Amino acid sequence: MPTTNQSWDPDGYARNARFVSDLGAAVVELLAPRAGERILDLGCGDGALTKKLVELGCDVVGVDASAPQVEAARRLGLDARVADGERLAFDAEFDAVFSNAAIHWMKPADDVIAGVWRALKPGGRFVAEFGGHGCVATIERALIDALRRRGINGDALNPWYFPTVEDYSARLARRGFAVRYIALIPRPTPLPTAINGWLDTFAQSFMAPLPDDNRAGFIDEVREAIRPDLCDGDGKWFADYVRLRFAADKPRD
Ligand code: BEZ
Repeated sequence: MPTTNQSWDPDGYARNARFVSDLGAAVVELLAPRAGERILDLGCGDGALTKKLVELGCDVVGVDASAPQVEAARRLGLDARVADGERLAFDAEFDAVFSNAAIHWMKPADDVIAGVWRALKPGGRFVAEFGGHGCVATIERALIDALRRRGINGDALNPWYFPTVEDYSARLARRGFAVRYIALIPRPTPLPTAINGWLDTFAQSFMAPLPDDNRAGFIDEVREAIRPDLCDGDGKWFADYVRLRFAADKPRD
């Protein structure tokens, strides 16, 4: 994942966001990995799902823009490398490119798709899941509104790309992929550490212009704005996730 205004702390990620890889089973199932296949895990983070693919007998390379996350993945014994998803430099060496919860951090979508295309062997597949249209819309709106109250343009700070099915299918098709499956999947997701942990982990780009000692107040204000929509009567917090899940094939020639 790109690191602009967003840093990744493997311990904080494990505490606040382990559910992201725990909920990756459906996209792994769609990938249907076979032992011996060479797979690129794009945006591998701390390697939790990369490791699962290795345990299934695949030969996996993980790439991520965050050096601390790559180090965490290497500590699991994985082949993990620091690389930008927008500038993949592999050439026809993978049977599949897999990605979970990473592509929404990569705004130059066509550059990502072009790099995946180059990385795949003819007949290879691109199978991924990431934030789709409407993902965390309540949280995003509250962040942008709170920034507007401070005279700051939050849209310009927004690091996320949450495409529609039509947008992403068209991009894949334009590059030559045959889209086998694509769907938007609303998935309200319970949070392990309430909303402050989620905002601390994922919303750093929005807070970049704020002085350090204003951030806690900003987070409290956002939390209270979204409480009516995302916190239930027992005080349990949810994030309004929507996933875009797809499988697309690179023709044999
Ligand atoms: C995710 O990790 O899935 C995610 C992160 C930020 C915004 C939306 C989704």
